[in-house]
Amino acid sequence: MKLQDYKPYLSPALAKTTDIIVGKAEGPYLYDLDGKKYLDFVQGIAVNALGHGHPRVVAAIKEQIDLCIDASYNLVSYPTTLAYAKRIAEIAPGDLSVTFFSNGGSEAIDGAIKLARAATGRPLIVAFRGSFHGRSLGATSVTASASKYRKHYEPLVGGIHFAPYPTPFRWGPRDLSVDPETASEEALLEIKKLFDFIAYPEDVAAFLIEPIMGEGGYVVPPSSFLKGLRKLADEHGILLIFDEIQSGYGRSGKYFASEIHGVVPDIMTIGKAMAGGLPMSGIVSKPEVMEKWLPGMHGTTFGGHPVAAAAGLAVLDVFEEEGILGNVKKQGEYLRGRLSELQKQYPVIGDVRGVGLMNAVEFVHPEDHSPNGEAFSKVRAYSEGHGLLLLGCGVYGNGLRFATPLNVSKEVLDEGLAIFEAALAAL
Ligand SMILES: Cc1ncc(COP(=O)(O)O)c(C=O)c1O
Repeated sequence: MKLQDYKPYLSPALAKTTDIIVGKAEGPYLYDLDGKKYLDFVQGIAVNALGHGHPRVVAAIKEQIDLCIDASYNLVSYPTTLAYAKRIAEIAPGDLSVTFFSNGGSEAIDGAIKLARAATGRPLIVAFRGSFHGRSLGATSVTASASKYRKHYEPLVGGIHFAPYPTPFRWGPRDLSVDPETASEEALLEIKKLFDFIAYPEDVAAFLIEPIMGEGGYVVPPSSFLKGLRKLADEHGILLIFDEIQSGYGRSGKYFASEIHGVVPDIMTIGKAMAGGLPMSGIVSKPEVMEKWLPGMHGTTFGGHPVAAAAGLAVLDVFEEEGILGNVKKQGEYLRGRLSELQKQYPVIGDVRGVGLMNAVEFVHPEDHSPNGEAFSKVRAYSEGHGLLLLGCGVYGNGLRFATPLNVSKEVLDEGLAIFEAALAAL
């Protein structure tokens, strides 16, 4: 079976990074139909927190399938989904305790926008340049990690304004490297300008932001920025929405990146890793916000799926029993340390950044620090050819993200780093 033969039947809109057709996948590895083995540092784009096919997740899925696959959560309730809602309240930051379950990240973003508008009665949303929130019409409208995602679709949903995300490695119109606090301070001043010139603050329903930027470049913003945003939100009665779809579920070393920053949002979107590889997402909020979303104001056929919830509960059980968050912190530090060593050896690596196991390198032309997309493409292609799967990020196509499983070992990291280093040497 070759992908090429099936292309006539597949929409080209979905850009495929590789031609691999998966035969099977296990732990950190996947195998194509010919049995070629790949070390998978993409993991479904930060979806498989416990690697492929963790036995506990597989067992939980099988058990629920035997009991009931679906009867629609609109009509009935399931023990797994009810228990999962309670469990999410236990790990969610601050007083966030009520979940609306949906199916994918974009859908959760659309729902969060609707919730913020319904709860405040205000129209405007302030999102951030560099952020990725998904591909539905609503999510595309708040996405600004590359103009190509919006091409042909304007006019998008109205009432969305953008402010700069503090990206210290490339800051301002000249892409200058600045210290993080400068970027934080100036980014907050830009919001004040937005309020003065364009968006009347009492018309703003919500700030929507990734507490760690994902697809846009794996940038960890200074905590002072998110604290400043929280303060501005409180001053003006604006809700703060954290999109934790990629940064959540332990990838940062905490359950949610909001804990890294010490900032509690009013609404949080979750997805990706929350159901062990099955499609599930959620909008989590405080009771006093959620209670303004009355029955029928939002809905879904599949949301709250009992099999996905069973998988999600198993994921959290394993997190606790196997000390996954500790492993993320330990292995993340090791990985960043090794990447920083490689940066000293290979000046084509302009930046190494991340937290926990959400890490990226940014390729540059060393002479002027301009983006080097060619180096990225060569390194990614070499790695794939030598059995290591990696994914890009960033508007200029020059970032490379490492989204390993969260239960990754030092040995597996070393295996991947050896291929990555060989790819750098081959440049
Ligand atoms: C932070 C963030 N939000 C939203 C989304 C959209 O999720 P989905 O592709 O499941 O719609 C993504 C997907 O990469 C994401 O990383």
